[in-house]
Amino acid sequence: LANGLAATPPMGWNSWNHFSCFIDEKMIRETADALVSTGLANFGYKFVNIDDCWAEISRDKKGSLVPKKSTFPSGIKALADYVHSKGLKLGIYSDAGYFTCSKKMPGSLGHEELDAKTFASWGIDYLKYDNCNHDGSKPIVRYPVMTRALMNAGRPIFFSLCEWGDMHPALWGASLGNSWRTTNDIADNWDSMISRADQNEVYAEYARPGGWNDPDMLEVGNGGMTKDEYIIHFSLWAISKAPLLVGCDVRNMTKETMEIIANKEVIGVNQDKLGVQGKKVRMEGDLEVWAGPLSGYRVAVVLLNRGPQQHRVMTARWDDIGIPPSTNVMARDLWQHKTLKQRFVDVLTATVDSHACKMYILKPIS
Ligand code: DGJ
Repeated sequence: LANGLAATPPMGWNSWNHFSCFIDEKMIRETADALVSTGLANFGYKFVNIDDCWAEISRDKKGSLVPKKSTFPSGIKALADYVHSKGLKLGIYSDAGYFTCSKKMPGSLGHEELDAKTFASWGIDYLKYDNCNHDGSKPIVRYPVMTRALMNAGRPIFFSLCEWGDMHPALWGASLGNSWRTTNDIADNWDSMISRADQNEVYAEYARPGGWNDPDMLEVGNGGMTKDEYIIHFSLWAISKAPLLVGCDVRNMTKETMEIIANKEVIGVNQDKLGVQGKKVRMEGDLEVWAGPLSGYRVAVVLLNRGPQQHRVMTARWDDIGIPPSTNVMARDLWQHKTLKQRFVDVLTATVDSHACKMYILKPIS
């Protein structure tokens, strides 16, 4: 969407994956504090996004959405002021239907102008717009109404289309939003995570600065996968230029979780200014090579072993990843944080364990 936002994929946190409807203003404030105190904010995680269940079930007399009194007694404006005072941005959630998916609060269908103005007046920076409980009309009819309302609201607001991929929003999302979901909801397990990466990959060519494919939010830190699987999760989201929206409780993270989501070099791949989504360039049974170009003629590569066998030998071939033949290449291992001593020509070979990956930046040298 040409609203000047999302030159690179958005980074931040969202309440849904860990807390679902159990949210309140205190934990949102504490999350903002934690993003700053852990250093995550400095790594780029700026959005603090409130998901479903923040509003009363009824609008007020003027038709405005009302923050839930029992959980958000100070209101959203006060929360936005607080979040902004920490150098962060506040996101909120609504739905292109009569009620949101939880059915615990109203949706914005028929109230788009007023709700967009309300969000802008509160200082909202990001809107996630879900697709539950609507009138049966197509998303391409309902979503543009909110796009226009936001464009009219007098404040730049990142617009996240949450249609879950059923109507292939990659094909029409770029003119309407800054990101669009390509999948149904992620769950905190290997099959769910890896299948979301697969479904999202198909649409690689539709991603670009200003509009990104969204395979759903991160589960890193929620406990349902191994460390290596979470490393795969983060590596694939990064190379796929997916939104990096942390979905765990950042107030209580392990060192291991922090090590993954605060990997500066992997984040750098995601935030590279070229903004080209990586894709699968070779699939051999359980072994996959994912690659995508970066600025400065560099290439990001993930060697992924999806299968049960340990110690599989994998090869990234210049042919597959778009480096001219005979080019000398320097390789940086982004999880070891080491530049390999060897120079590589035409191929790079490595051993990859079961449900593990290696990730590199390859840099041609003259
Ligand atoms: C469906 C979305 O896909 C989820 O991310 C979350 O926002 C829930 N709805 C909230 O009800």
